[in-house]
Amino acid sequence: MYSYHNSTLNQSTSISGTLIDLRSDTVTLPSEDMLKAAYRSPLGDDVYSEDFTVLELQSFAAEMFHKDSALFFPSGTQSNLAAILSHCNRGEEALVGREYHSFSHEAHGASVLGSVALSPIDTNYNDELTVESLKNEIKPDDSHYPITKLVCLENTVSGKVQDQHKIDEVCRLAHKSGLKIHLDGARIFHAHVHSGLSLESLTSNIDSVSVCLSKGLGSPIGSLLIGNEELIEKAKRIRKLLGGGMRQVGIIAGCGLYALQNNIERLSDDHSNAKRLADGLSTIEQLEVTYEETQTNMVFIEFSEAIEGELSRHLFENKVNTTFTSGKSRLVCHMGISTENIDHIIKCFVKFFCH
Ligand SMILES: Cc1ncc(COP(=O)(O)O)c(C=O)c1O
Repeated sequence: MYSYHNSTLNQSTSISGTLIDLRSDTVTLPSEDMLKAAYRSPLGDDVYSEDFTVLELQSFAAEMFHKDSALFFPSGTQSNLAAILSHCNRGEEALVGREYHSFSHEAHGASVLGSVALSPIDTNYNDELTVESLKNEIKPDDSHYPITKLVCLENTVSGKVQDQHKIDEVCRLAHKSGLKIHLDGARIFHAHVHSGLSLESLTSNIDSVSVCLSKGLGSPIGSLLIGNEELIEKAKRIRKLLGGGMRQVGIIAGCGLYALQNNIERLSDDHSNAKRLADGLSTIEQLEVTYEETQTNMVFIEFSEAIEGELSRHLFENKVNTTFTSGKSRLVCHMGISTENIDHIIKCFVKFFCH
């Protein structure tokens, strides 16, 4: 489990430009071209569905995934929540992978606000839900149990691309059992670039998918929920109830549209930088790099807890910002980190451990 609160960074200092920030791919700043695109975006009141840029972003995204409709949200958490509340009513249940963000890091919003039970399901070595793990968790029609309505998947999970055959198998079982499938695709574009599978084939059996524009794609804010018209209509009502109806928000959607049109294919640079980092760090005896997990933009390392503070101080003094947690820690590559930066990071680690 990650903690978002034990960074060595003094929050009053400026982050961008001054530090190589390995904590997350959410820390990127919009490029000048992205800001120019936002500046030129035609605006309107989106609660009246009159913001042209939001409308364009939504139809562009729906088309990319070959689905009916899309809806712009301020965050991935709100988009996942609106999806769960659109699929499930009070007293119903969503089955979710135990370590998936929508179970472990979204404050159980669906239970707190919607009286929907979130039941954690164990996943396999690659963080996948399997047909076997799911079968026993779908409740029979019995008043002792909540009514199972939804299965929530995630792709990528901790940077790992999920096996598409397993996803499709789980979807078949769920649909046969009368359940819907929601996918937290916060980093689905990383899965697309790594696997070479189209966005359509990654989600063709999925009923709703939430994607993030601010995780690796360089947009400052924003997520989209994508699905059929009926679901998106319901989600729109829920978004308003959650306080997510925004006004001239094309100023942000313009960044999102730019991100979808320009910043997907370049994710392969982040993936190669992650591989380069994993290669460099794996030469250090005192570090364990779980190399097989480095599929997209995340590298996981383990080392003695006793040196955690000293190592993060050393890195910070050399302008490398990290968040270490006991057990495995992640290092995340993104557009704010160049190949030269990767070589600098490796040198800093080598200097700490080997001198
Ligand atoms: C896999 C995943 N899903 C959803 C979210 C939530 O997104 P947001 O921070 O925009 O609420 C995150 C955030 O890091 C995430 O990593």
